Amino acid sequence: MNACIRAIVRTASRHDIEVIGFLRGYEGLIDNRFVELKQESVSGIIQKGGTILKTARSERFRTEAGIRQAADTLKKNQVDGMVIIGGDGSFKGALALKDHIHIPVMGCAGTIDNDLVGTDFTIGYDTAINTVIEALDKIRDTAESHDRIFVVEVMGRDAGLIALRSAIASGAEAVLVPELKHDLEDLVQKIKNWRSTKSSRIIVVAEGDQSGGAFKVAELVKKQCPEFDLRVSILGHIQRGGNPTCMERVNASIVGFNAVKALLAGRKNEMVGIINKEISFTPFEKAVKHHTSIKKDLEDLIEILSS
Ligand code: F6P
Repeated sequence: MNACIRAIVRTASRHDIEVIGFLRGYEGLIDNRFVELKQESVSGIIQKGGTILKTARSERFRTEAGIRQAADTLKKNQVDGMVIIGGDGSFKGALALKDHIHIPVMGCAGTIDNDLVGTDFTIGYDTAINTVIEALDKIRDTAESHDRIFVVEVMGRDAGLIALRSAIASGAEAVLVPELKHDLEDLVQKIKNWRSTKSSRIIVVAEGDQSGGAFKVAELVKKQCPEFDLRVSILGHIQRGGNPTCMERVNASIVGFNAVKALLAGRKNEMVGIINKEISFTPFEKAVKHHTSIKKDLEDLIEILSS
């Protein structure tokens, strides 16, 4: 997100536009808490994870009073245009604001889940999946040495892309994601059929999978396959931090730059994305309504490639 903030500030500055950054997302907008952002304010941040502006899941912004207060802040500060970095919750917020204040708003997709339509990439995703595969490679070493099954839970409350892609990239034996229906009896059968020469097995579970998470899956497997030595590992918030990958820094810079250019060109209420290396614009209404789908054949791919 820092790479994106840097691109927004420096592109706007080049056009003599003053930039302020609200702190902690919509919370800062409600409380009128912001910092001035100049060329030099964004020096040395492109390589840093997280966001220098901080962020928050704002409960108050879910209320009519909160939204009204946020709109008042924008009026008070004579804000002429706004760029929001966030996921579908943030863009839903932008739509709510639209009823109270008519300023152009552009969005840059930022979520590790990569579950928004209108872009091949969301800020945070590439870094997160690289963190996950590094962890899975390390877990594989222990699994291999001890002849164990590992059930590894990765993030993805409603979305399975982190799980799916990291499973493919790490050679995992199975994956469970919220978008696809899984019969845990099938998983047990699969485990029983795994060739005996295999000394390690990794099952990747997205946290939002209907099975109820890694511990639930492990409990069932242990009950039905007691002959296996099994461990659970929950990767948690290491997936949300760390130095961004090269791809991430470049793409976040491109979308930030294009969000400002779009405002200058008179565009509004759209998310800037990158599809097939081209800049794309998706109305917020569409971006929040549709989520990236997951193709069942990728699950088959995992099974075949890990056999
Ligand atoms: O934005 C969605 C997400 O990345 C989920 O995949 C994950 O469950 C969640 O954020 C973690 O958020 P928090 O740090 O607020 O628990």
